Amino acid sequence: MPPQEKHDHDTLKFPPDFLWGAATSAYQVEGNNLNADWEDFKSAGKACDEYHLYEKDFCLAKQLNHNAHRLSIEWSRIEPEQGKFDPEEIEHYVKMLKYLKSLKMTVFLTLWHFTLPKWVAKLGGWENRATIKYFEEFVKRVVPELAEYVDFWITLNEPGVYIYETYIRKEWPQLKKSFLGQIKTTLNLASAHKRIYKFLHQSFPAGKPIGIANNVLSFESYHKHSILEQAAVSLNDLAANHLFYFLTKGTHDFLGINYYFHVRFTTHGLVPKQVNLLQQTHDVSDLGWEIYPEGLFEVLTDLSDDIPIYITECGIASTNDDRRNRFLIAYLQEVFRAIRAGVNVRGFFYWSLIDNFEWHRGFDPRFGLIEVDYTTQERKIRPSALVYTDIIQHNGIPHSLLRFLGHTVDAEEVLEKRYKEIIKGK
Ligand code: FCB
Repeated sequence: MPPQEKHDHDTLKFPPDFLWGAATSAYQVEGNNLNADWEDFKSAGKACDEYHLYEKDFCLAKQLNHNAHRLSIEWSRIEPEQGKFDPEEIEHYVKMLKYLKSLKMTVFLTLWHFTLPKWVAKLGGWENRATIKYFEEFVKRVVPELAEYVDFWITLNEPGVYIYETYIRKEWPQLKKSFLGQIKTTLNLASAHKRIYKFLHQSFPAGKPIGIANNVLSFESYHKHSILEQAAVSLNDLAANHLFYFLTKGTHDFLGINYYFHVRFTTHGLVPKQVNLLQQTHDVSDLGWEIYPEGLFEVLTDLSDDIPIYITECGIASTNDDRRNRFLIAYLQEVFRAIRAGVNVRGFFYWSLIDNFEWHRGFDPRFGLIEVDYTTQERKIRPSALVYTDIIQHNGIPHSLLRFLGHTVDAEEVLEKRYKEIIKGK
């Protein structure tokens, strides 16, 4: 008799209380952040005008069944000049967070997501040791007013990406290649995180969990036998994925993981180089970032520790929404696999709730579950948002969705009936 094929028609169930949401950051969505350093560099202009439209956006997230939301506050709005805090802007954030809580959302609040007030940037930004103190003063002023409405604190977003884009690739404000700048910024960001961690725990003993959102990459050598390539993998893994955790050891109540990248190294002579994906057959997003769901499993198992893990960002830039459908299913399947392997993953935040300003790349990359028309500020729910809703409603991946993996069928057509039902709230 041939071996029996294994059929599993059940939903791939996630743990009860799993958090499902999407993430944004203030500068990328709010609009008119005139006192931020990015304004003089590449302005987001009106962006998605979420400053005024937040109720609409949060309601959409709620309609889509999200039970959690990650967002950030804009330092430059609250403290446009050194030591001068704007109470109206603080009040604005209080209202926003209150509104989210009224929708019964679990709130993850990021305190710093890449942008600086112009005055801080002029004084040297994160290279300047005094910025630790400036940031601490800002946090101490604002947090007591917001704390009631926050469930999880994220002190910093992706220190590694900030340093890479600023000091190595020279794509972001400051625009300079500087090894010293890298070192100083790394150490200052690490100190800032540690101080804020201590402050938050001391001042709010009820203890909302505190962490960072760290960009974690999956590295691989192209030739398995190549010691050089493997050395490149180890070194990069250490520097990009582990160094910041090492510098801030003992000050993470959870790991916030942002996953986007899979990097393969190959050797040219003696120098390991990143494989150029365009010469390969791999599937890539509109930004050329490889679609590699297995990498998420790899980073999750690699970082697995005693503390809970939240995937604080994971998403795809694509104008072809069918690819986002498959992306969501495939990546979440890897999260499921990791949980089954014993990794303590407690939540997933898709990047992003709405299309937004993708830093130096502007508005072309479309990451949103919700499409934004930047002329009218109209929002349009993409079908993939409903695939995500389907998953959330099942608190897992229904087996019927798995069949879309590897297909190029237009989910909008195939899944239409089901999604209409979801929209009608059945
Ligand atoms: C991450 C950033 C986020 C967004 C996504 C695409 O590195 O945290 O702001 O730009 O990439």
